[in-house]
Amino acid sequence: MKNVIVRLRDIEKIYGGKSVIDHLNLDVAQGEFLTLLGPSGCGKTTTLRMIGGFEETDGGQIFLEDEDVAGRAPNHRNVNTVFQSYALFPHMNVFDNVAFGLVEKKVPKAEIKKRVDEMIELVQLQGMEKRMPSQMSGGQKQRVAIARALVNRPKVLLLDEPLGALDLKLRKQMQYELKELQKKLQITFIYVTHDQEEALTMSDRIAVMNGGRIEQLGTPVEIYDHPKTKFVADFIGESNIFEAYIEEKKGHRISLVMESGKVELDAPEFDYDEMVYVCVRPENMKVSMEPVDGFTIRGTVMEHIFVGSIIKTIIELPNSQLIKMTNPPEDEIIPVGTNVYLHWLPGKAVVMHTREDRVYEIIEGAGNENEKEEQ
Ligand SMILES: Nc1ncnc2c1ncn2[C@@H]1O[C@H](COP(=O)(O)OP(=O)(O)O)[C@@H](O)[C@H]1O
Ligand SMILES: [Mg+2]
Repeated sequence: MKNVIVRLRDIEKIYGGKSVIDHLNLDVAQGEFLTLLGPSGCGKTTTLRMIGGFEETDGGQIFLEDEDVAGRAPNHRNVNTVFQSYALFPHMNVFDNVAFGLVEKKVPKAEIKKRVDEMIELVQLQGMEKRMPSQMSGGQKQRVAIARALVNRPKVLLLDEPLGALDLKLRKQMQYELKELQKKLQITFIYVTHDQEEALTMSDRIAVMNGGRIEQLGTPVEIYDHPKTKFVADFIGESNIFEAYIEEKKGHRISLVMESGKVELDAPEFDYDEMVYVCVRPENMKVSMEPVDGFTIRGTVMEHIFVGSIIKTIIELPNSQLIKMTNPPEDEIIPVGTNVYLHWLPGKAVVMHTREDRVYEIIEGAGNENEKEEQ
């Protein structure tokens, strides 16, 4: 990858004898919006704090612009952090909060005024310079926190669930504003969230974390359309996951046996005699009254749920597994109780390994994909 600005190499962190970050590798490009996404406790904050210099590593190296920053204090890294809690100074007004970093650096007064005014305009808080944090809403306080970080013109901005405390509507608006701001300033953002929708809408690339490791690194489309592990498929978006056995392979085509029927599909990188997961997104599930070539899965329509612009249909398989299918409301509604055949369009199923050693190989490669391409 070109123009790497943050490089993590084999990072480890141990708390109380327990490994919480496990040989993590990651390259972040200049100007990129990269998100660390994963469930609570997977190590997102710890990773961010190590990049910011608030936490030491127990192994590995962190490079900022090709320089190893081991032992360097947070204020001596060209990085700023925005925390979920805002951490504004309660006794200072908006202007002074934003100006704080520049005052510390003894920047001349006239320049401070100019840069703070510029930032306040950028986050649309003009006219609020004299307000105290206690007189502002959550969204306004978060904008002050962002302005306070950006005024230092950091190369990299670290953001730890910055919108987590806001209600849904404001969060959506701030997601849009933050993304626009990032594009405009071309500052590298490393953004932490446990909200998959937020990650999908905002990021250039997402690193999906689980148990202190990156399970998959890719663009939102890659992660959504081609999850490499069951964890990623489950965590991002909705999935139907079938357990299946590959009983035969002919050319690129594999024949799968599942509890609820048989399926054939293209999966060149898989071999026969392996247990796999097959993941199909609800929008790619289809039903028909007659079997479709290559499929013998049967089910019964159980329920229709109206979810705004789509209809979600629940189908029960003979083994009691519930399958989710979504369709636009203008599609024909099949009555509850109807027995149907299930299928999906070619290329719309993702096959994943179940064997732990195979899954491990994929996870091992996740943070290192760029390196492999270069070799
Ligand atoms: N200061 C600490 N002391 C001990 N354990 C910690 C400390 N900080 C985090 N942990 C543990 O490290 C793991 C990762 O935590 P964290 O990075 O905060 O996760 P996330 O931000 O993804 O929710 C968790 O199991 C958490 O309990
Ligand atoms: Mg956290």
